[in-house]
Amino acid sequence: MEFSTHASVSPHQYKTAALAVGVFKDGILSVAADAIDRASQGAIKAVVKAEFTGNTGATLVLRDLKGVTALRVVLVGLGKQSEYSAKTHATAEQAFAAYCVQARLTEATSSLAAIPYAQSDARARGRTAASAVGASLYHFDATFGKPDLEARPKLKKFIALVDKSDQAATNQGLAEGAALAEGMSLARTLGNLPGNICTPTYLGEAAKKLGREFKSIKVTVLEPKQIEKLGMGSFLSVARGSSQPARFIVMHYQGKPGARASSKTASKAANKGPIVLIGKGITFDSGGISIKPAATMDEMKFDMCGAASVLGTMRAIAEIGLPGEVIALIPTCENMPSGTANKPGDVVTSMSGQTIEILNTDAEGRLILCDALTYAERFKPSAVIDIATLTGACVVALGKVNSGLFSTNDALAEALLVAGKQAQDPAWRMPLDDAYQAQLKSNFADMANIGGQPGGAVTAACFLSRFAKAYPWAHLDIAGTAWHGGAAKGATGRPVGMLFQYLLNQA
Ligand code: BES
Ligand code: MN
Ligand code: ZN
Repeated sequence: MEFSTHASVSPHQYKTAALAVGVFKDGILSVAADAIDRASQGAIKAVVKAEFTGNTGATLVLRDLKGVTALRVVLVGLGKQSEYSAKTHATAEQAFAAYCVQARLTEATSSLAAIPYAQSDARARGRTAASAVGASLYHFDATFGKPDLEARPKLKKFIALVDKSDQAATNQGLAEGAALAEGMSLARTLGNLPGNICTPTYLGEAAKKLGREFKSIKVTVLEPKQIEKLGMGSFLSVARGSSQPARFIVMHYQGKPGARASSKTASKAANKGPIVLIGKGITFDSGGISIKPAATMDEMKFDMCGAASVLGTMRAIAEIGLPGEVIALIPTCENMPSGTANKPGDVVTSMSGQTIEILNTDAEGRLILCDALTYAERFKPSAVIDIATLTGACVVALGKVNSGLFSTNDALAEALLVAGKQAQDPAWRMPLDDAYQAQLKSNFADMANIGGQPGGAVTAACFLSRFAKAYPWAHLDIAGTAWHGGAAKGATGRPVGMLFQYLLNQA
């Protein structure tokens, strides 16, 4: 997909297969819609009056308008003008893209990025346009016998029509949005691939592939012997139940020196270490000996969506050459029942030296993440963010709208919340009071791996916090947001949007 801009004072003279123009509710026309209306002697006002309400995301196609060069003009509803926002802008671009895909168009032009809204500039609107259009072109057919080639979107060129003075900033935003869409698309595909294909080895290969595609990313994939040497007894205890060997993926992204590291005027204290992203990579979670019920167990192939979001984010930042240093850590294995699997009551020793009594083998995410959190210490990070489909309790608490955000650091938490809002990939901050820690008490080890039903998402975060004391740390529980079940079953690519925006804001 190719994103570009065109600056024109006369949109009616612009040659394209389809030109999107925005129409608000109550018949209020955007600048481009008004220009097309005047050139076509009132064609738009007439159809708006007769049948187009301007509801958000509604579309209506007008072909061969007199006085207009574009083959089609697509009216796109923007809702109430007073409520117009990044969210409506994204919905509108997606509605237009959906039309273009369905009409089998290869090229299209949208004037929507020129329409201002609160807290937006041309760059942000360009980013929103490209990420929205990119997302609506996502198509998964990797595991069908004969992929339906006709069903693949044909759209290859998307042009944003903007003012000349906004062209450079819009181009920058489009590049960022396109990179984000690519990153999300990678995350979704890895998530959608089944457990028998997307194994820990496969994820390791996917990371290495990124290392080959981008010079700025160095990749090391550790095998069980090397993981054992590191002392990751908790991680390996989960992996032992499966015949698929575990992998520990380490990715090192080095962009141009970032503002945080290179500024000569900044004090020494501002010369901060890298940001570390840690993704839960359980490629299938059967529950292990504490086995899960059969219904919807297939969805536990999505239990590596944290890892997928980290890979997607790394891809996105490498694509735009983000300044600064980012490390990705991915502990990845299967959680299976077998003669070598963890048993309830087993006690394992983590890399930190703390021992853990495994009371439920289905609480395996925290068992693999805790060793990655300890490994992260060696980078002297300025922030560590782990991303995990960690608890069903988080789905109960927050549903499928917000990811759960837990942090011991208010500044880091706030930065992630803001980024989530900007990227329309929101999180909600959850508590992490010390008082919850008592639920993890064990009679036989330093801690138990479960804290009972009450506050299940919180006690899972409490467990992780015991391994994350050496640096500012945040945990994102994406159990509710990483994929959809039901008829629209599939990975969402969340929270790549939030993470990418957070890293952009930091650079
Ligand atoms: N991967 C699951 C969490 C999950 C469950 C995500 C359902 C999305 C939907 C995790 O490994 C798990 O099984 N957690 C347990 C923890 C419990 C045993 C304390 C859970 O949430 O039931
Ligand atoms: Mn589990
Ligand atoms: Zn799991």
